Amino acid sequence: MDSTKKILVTGGAGYIGSHTVVELINAGYEPVIVDNFSRSDKTLTEGIEKITGQRVKLFEGDCCDKTFLAQVFKSAGPISSVLHFAAYKSVGESVEKPLDYYRNNLGSLVTLLEVMQEYKVHDLIFSSSCTVYGQPDQIPVNESAPFKRAESPYGATKQVCERILEDAYSTGFRIVSLRYFNPVGAHPTALLGELPIGTPNNLVPYITQTAAGIREKLTVFGSDYDTPDGSCIRDFIHVVDVAKAHVKAMEFLSSGSGSNMFEVFNLGTGIGVSVLQLIDKFIKVTGVKLPFVIGARRSGDVEKVYADPAKVNDQLKWKTVYSLEDSLLHAWQWEKKIRNLVV
Ligand code: UD1
Repeated sequence: MDSTKKILVTGGAGYIGSHTVVELINAGYEPVIVDNFSRSDKTLTEGIEKITGQRVKLFEGDCCDKTFLAQVFKSAGPISSVLHFAAYKSVGESVEKPLDYYRNNLGSLVTLLEVMQEYKVHDLIFSSSCTVYGQPDQIPVNESAPFKRAESPYGATKQVCERILEDAYSTGFRIVSLRYFNPVGAHPTALLGELPIGTPNNLVPYITQTAAGIREKLTVFGSDYDTPDGSCIRDFIHVVDVAKAHVKAMEFLSSGSGSNMFEVFNLGTGIGVSVLQLIDKFIKVTGVKLPFVIGARRSGDVEKVYADPAKVNDQLKWKTVYSLEDSLLHAWQWEKKIRNLVV
């Protein structure tokens, strides 16, 4: 590996992006962050520096702004690959503000591809989601499952982005799209983690905020699903495992021959865990109280989905290292750290 390789990380100050920047530095790369801080916080860039002992070059700006992005490519020096995390990701918000989601998530990808083309940078890792499958006919779901109609504008943006990549790659790109299942947890040092804006939509941050006393109680959205305990089933994967997969995917691309390539990989553990099982595990692992009630189903939720990770295991030589217990413990340690709690 060439240790001087510069890697552009859009959204590198966000939840998954920041953990990936740490893994890139650990693997000897030189990440360069682009972030507009619309959904992220400088706390995470400080966390990166504390963990790695390195200052990371940062360009503050919007990936939809072509002039800005071109300036980044010009002044950052030769970039070998791009990891594109910058996107909006709240399902509920996307229903309220669909045009914002289409403009931001599609606009930033198209702009980025145009600038990459201009600067002859070919390798791209794209952050996709298991949401592209909708409720699959078969689980565990593998990469050849057809896309069902997206349940939300957010989901639709991920489907359309993958279509853009599929159409564009033959014009000189080498692309890997990683379909994340449910990334959870935090860095084991508790120096990085998720920082939701306002009330969290996602399960694990809602749980940790409830345990910390910030939320009164957790509501389990539905207990009448066709699952063993009636709650939804997901594939929860530690964010550091997700981050490490990006380094593998990037090395997979750079070691490949040929100038055009597009591959998709599921990023999941292959284990389905229900919402109620996860709550039970959180209480056992942390020993804290977690008040919760059973509520109505949340619209747009799929009943059960978990990954068939065979392709990513085989081709990227990657598999998960952390357990669900690790994820929950690390998420709780992070929550305690940012709230200055001693529990
Ligand atoms: C959703 C998206 C996913 C996206 C992710 C990141 C879909 C189908 N999935 O994942 O693509 O990458 O958000 O934002 O669009 N739950 C509760 N109570 C809560 C919160 C959640 O019971 O307070 C339940 C949900 O009903 C669901 C499970 O927990 O069954 C996981 O929810 P969540 O963490 O929001 O993730 P997804 O909806 O699976």
